[in-house]
Amino acid sequence: TYSNASNFDYTANLFPLSSSAGNGYAPLGAPTSTGLQGGGLGGTSLEKHKTLTYMNGLGLVVGLIIGSGIFSSPSQVNTNVGSPGAALIVWVIAGVLAWTGAASYAELGASIPLNGGPQAYLSKILGELSGFLFTWVAVLVLKPGSAAIIAIIMGEYLVRAAIGAEAETINPWIMKAVALVGLFAVTFINALSTRLGTRLNDMLMFLKFFALIGVTIVGIVVALTGFSVTGTANNEWKAHSWFEGTTTDVSRWAVAIYAGLWAFDGWDNTNYVVGEFRNPGRDLPRVIHTAMPLVIASYLLANVAYFFVLPTKVINSTNTVAVMFGGKVFGPIGALVLSIVVSASCFGALNSSTFTSSRLVYAAGKEGYFPAVFGRIGVGSTDPGLSSTRTRNWFSKKLHSMLSDEETGLFFTPVNAIVLNGALTVAYVIVGEFGELITFYGVAGYTFYFLTVLGLIILRVKEPNLERPYKTWITTPIIFCCVSLFLLSRAVFAQPLQTLIVIAFVLVGIPVYFWRIHGRDQVTKRDIGGTSRHGWKFWKRWAN
Ligand code: ARG
Repeated sequence: TYSNASNFDYTANLFPLSSSAGNGYAPLGAPTSTGLQGGGLGGTSLEKHKTLTYMNGLGLVVGLIIGSGIFSSPSQVNTNVGSPGAALIVWVIAGVLAWTGAASYAELGASIPLNGGPQAYLSKILGELSGFLFTWVAVLVLKPGSAAIIAIIMGEYLVRAAIGAEAETINPWIMKAVALVGLFAVTFINALSTRLGTRLNDMLMFLKFFALIGVTIVGIVVALTGFSVTGTANNEWKAHSWFEGTTTDVSRWAVAIYAGLWAFDGWDNTNYVVGEFRNPGRDLPRVIHTAMPLVIASYLLANVAYFFVLPTKVINSTNTVAVMFGGKVFGPIGALVLSIVVSASCFGALNSSTFTSSRLVYAAGKEGYFPAVFGRIGVGSTDPGLSSTRTRNWFSKKLHSMLSDEETGLFFTPVNAIVLNGALTVAYVIVGEFGELITFYGVAGYTFYFLTVLGLIILRVKEPNLERPYKTWITTPIIFCCVSLFLLSRAVFAQPLQTLIVIAFVLVGIPVYFWRIHGRDQVTKRDIGGTSRHGWKFWKRWAN
């Protein structure tokens, strides 16, 4: 069911004779280039079932971006730059920076429409090692680490909702237990059905926007009328000195921007699933250029609303600003409602991240970077689409036909990849040490963002004639590269130890790369050679 002529079907064309897709990158899917992504050797693949639409894309991006950040920690921005006015400027800078990154990624995604995002782009542009190292870091640390943070924050807000928002100390294990329950739910939903996962995303996206619009309206009403259920006078906005106390220290601005960037992070989310879009060339840029301005505007408005209702001191000293906001205006009920809203928002972000992270794992499995079971659809270790000669295990084949139904779509998902991603996230939730994780996230994450966007510029030079369904202004990637390089350099000097850990972790990936690639080439030989399981063809290849 992929009759749409504009689809780039890498999976159907084993060795495309011409650029029938109208895209200079058509041969990418062939095993001759970097690997086997798209199941070039046959078998079932997700990319054959292009289900994602513009709306789903919007749900995936907005769903992940609006998570915990805007509801919990504007304090990190405020305290660093010193004044409400400067804080709002930081939010604009961080938002625009995220937007330039997202626009650059949209160009890459539209011209290289494969699952896995930067894994595919870096492999094509800077060489396969860089694509592997991205995957190595992203699958093992970045994705599950950030999901764990979101899960724990979700747990915290749910517990707050249950035992009273004002509670000072909450046993971290209770929060973690709740986080794990949410995580299991999300993992199960995503393993069960692609459509269920994306529907849930779409719904939660609307909830998030409603929540932020609600906060804004309440803030404005309060500012105009001084309204408050609790009876305390509400005219905080007059009390703020908007620019007094603004710092001139560049490194504090940098830290504040970092904090803002966490709240905007997730703009790369659709890029991991480009291969499943019906019309990526059209929809990817459309998703980005609606999502980013909407998110930036709603974040600014929410911040203004917080300032309208709460004193600067309160905002700067809390990590649950939205709950404070609800409590100040509507009393305990307000605090309860907002706790639930924030945990729902985190749940949505978790869902969104599970959906896309598992596709990265899946692409890595297909590409041979990770064991092939992770590149499978459905339950078990056997691909239902492969010929029976390769089916080794009767049981897993049975399991498959029972549990992975191509028609209904039930369990027609990268189940193994989803489980791996879920298991890693569980591990981070259990051992999770926030501070460490967030710094690692910043340094490693922005290194790869930087490299990928730099790759866009390189690709423009190297392949000027590549068909690009969407082309951003060249200033966009340049701005992103300059600012992110600046931020990275600050972080490197401020946190040399964490930087070393990141570098060490990346280096460990290099031997793994050679081991995996060796293994993959062996498998390729075997499959193409047909009979020679352990065979002489492999040796012949070395002899040549
Ligand atoms: N922006 C999200 C939030 O405010 C965090 C996104 C984490 N990033 C990621 N790729 N999972 O909670």
